[in-house]
Amino acid sequence: MIDVQSLRFARLKFDFDRERAMKEIVPLLPLMDWAKSAPYFKSVVLPFTVASAEEERAYAGSNYFSWKTIGLTHIPGVETSKLGRSSSRNRNVIAQWQWREDIVVPYLKELVAALPFESIQSIRVIALFPGHVGGVHHDDTLGMFYNAGARSVTLNISDGGQRLEFMQHGQHYTLSNYPAFIFRDDCYHGVRKVDSLRAQLRINGLFAPGMADLVDQKASLAV
Ligand SMILES: [Fe+2]
Repeated sequence: MIDVQSLRFARLKFDFDRERAMKEIVPLLPLMDWAKSAPYFKSVVLPFTVASAEEERAYAGSNYFSWKTIGLTHIPGVETSKLGRSSSRNRNVIAQWQWREDIVVPYLKELVAALPFESIQSIRVIALFPGHVGGVHHDDTLGMFYNAGARSVTLNISDGGQRLEFMQHGQHYTLSNYPAFIFRDDCYHGVRKVDSLRAQLRINGLFAPGMADLVDQKASLAV
């Protein structure tokens, strides 16, 4: 049996109706906010880049060309948990995350319920709007999320014409356009400029044992 906890990524044998999912995402787009309060494009040395030197210069000091997010679940009483950001506070694995009552996404809820999670934490939509770049960065640098045993599943609702790129052990990888996948994001990763909307549903939580059965071992990589 495969150890899902040790995976950098894996394709999941799980499919869904992308059009139907997108119908629920579209009304959320105007509600989305920038994923970070600090700029993505900083003058730090990154192991790889997803933007040209000219784009890097244009984006330096700004976060207005990168991801926008919204939380579909929240921690009651914690307003920032609704932003769907990837900050350590919003990766609180102890808090009792609940579906937001002001967001109507019956099909997305159905999909989440069909996935083998033991418990659900933050569930968010992550989007790149046309012309935007997902600057290279890494998440969960404090290990708050992964060390607590939490993992994530991403449903790739629309890819924007680009793929997720990441570096591990000095190797550069490009993830295929899988409908559903596991990805551990505490390595450097980014997405080149999209020419159409890229929208993904990221479901964080504790996996139930059944998740291992969904892993396509031929399309997976260990950490
Ligand atoms: Fe990320």
